[in-house]
Amino acid sequence: MTDPAQFQLDAHGRLRHLLTTEGMPADILTEILDTAASFLPASKEPPRKVPLLRGSTVANLFFEPSTRTRTTFEVAAKRLSADVIDMQLEHSSKNKGEDDVDTLYTLQAMGVDLFVIRHPENGAAAHFARHVAPDVAVLNAGDGSNAHPTQALLDALTIRRHRPDFHNLSVAIVGDVRHSRVAQSNIHALKTLGVPDIRVVAPEGLMLEDPSKLGVTPVFTLAEGIRDVDVVMGLRIQRERMHHERVPSVEEYHRQFGLTRHTLGGLKPEAIIMHPGPINRGVEIDAETAYGPQSVILEQVRNGIAIRMAVMAIIAGNVKKAAGDQTQA
Ligand code: CP
Repeated sequence: MTDPAQFQLDAHGRLRHLLTTEGMPADILTEILDTAASFLPASKEPPRKVPLLRGSTVANLFFEPSTRTRTTFEVAAKRLSADVIDMQLEHSSKNKGEDDVDTLYTLQAMGVDLFVIRHPENGAAAHFARHVAPDVAVLNAGDGSNAHPTQALLDALTIRRHRPDFHNLSVAIVGDVRHSRVAQSNIHALKTLGVPDIRVVAPEGLMLEDPSKLGVTPVFTLAEGIRDVDVVMGLRIQRERMHHERVPSVEEYHRQFGLTRHTLGGLKPEAIIMHPGPINRGVEIDAETAYGPQSVILEQVRNGIAIRMAVMAIIAGNVKKAAGDQTQA
């Protein structure tokens, strides 16, 4: 099977689908961040609508629940002037036994140009990308515990707006790193962008199986994990992806690893606190911290619109360029 990192690029090395941040060249990551920054409205300015995707159709296919990713993709597509199909899969013919790929073909026959897909299975987005027509693109909105590339990109944009120098950054990713596609995608993106110190902070049962493979440092206590860091990124415990891991009780987990005023007492005052959402109050974070002065959690949500606009605009432009290459050949 083709490597998704390669498969998501066209013959000229341009982004063709968005499947993973693993192996994504630094210049493409930076192009996405810069394009997204250009879409961020100045404070108090109303959001701008641009015609970049006028005449295009974007379909949201979410086989797993979502609040942030699904709605920000929809808002982003509308700000790019695209038509949007937000499939209600729970009421679709999937319930009559239709295969997921047949749903894809059906929507493609209606003229969908970009599919935004969330799926519980690792590798699902790459699977769909192999089935679409040459002028149709797939964007991974989260597949199993594998990847959530737009989350990592919006996280990188949020970090860059507070700490522009990635080469002098310490980041602590705290919580269920073992089952987290957000952690995977963030680690790949931040490593490529030059972050030298990435710590994964978790109890034994939620730690990555092989942190050294990803070039990150495992830390088993929160106090040590957050010492001198610039960014703390909390993660939700992914109970839906667990099998037989030994994990502490909710109370014990919250006491040891929950992000609270008490546990974050040693954090630098200028450090930022992030979380991809949804948060589980009283488990990995409390409301006081989630909405406190160091938190950028709602800024992450807003930045998600700009990142998703950027990715869709870049990919749509690249698909057009590829069609032009074909005509000239
Ligand atoms: N961060 C994130 O993916 O949130 P949703 O599941 O609400 O989309």
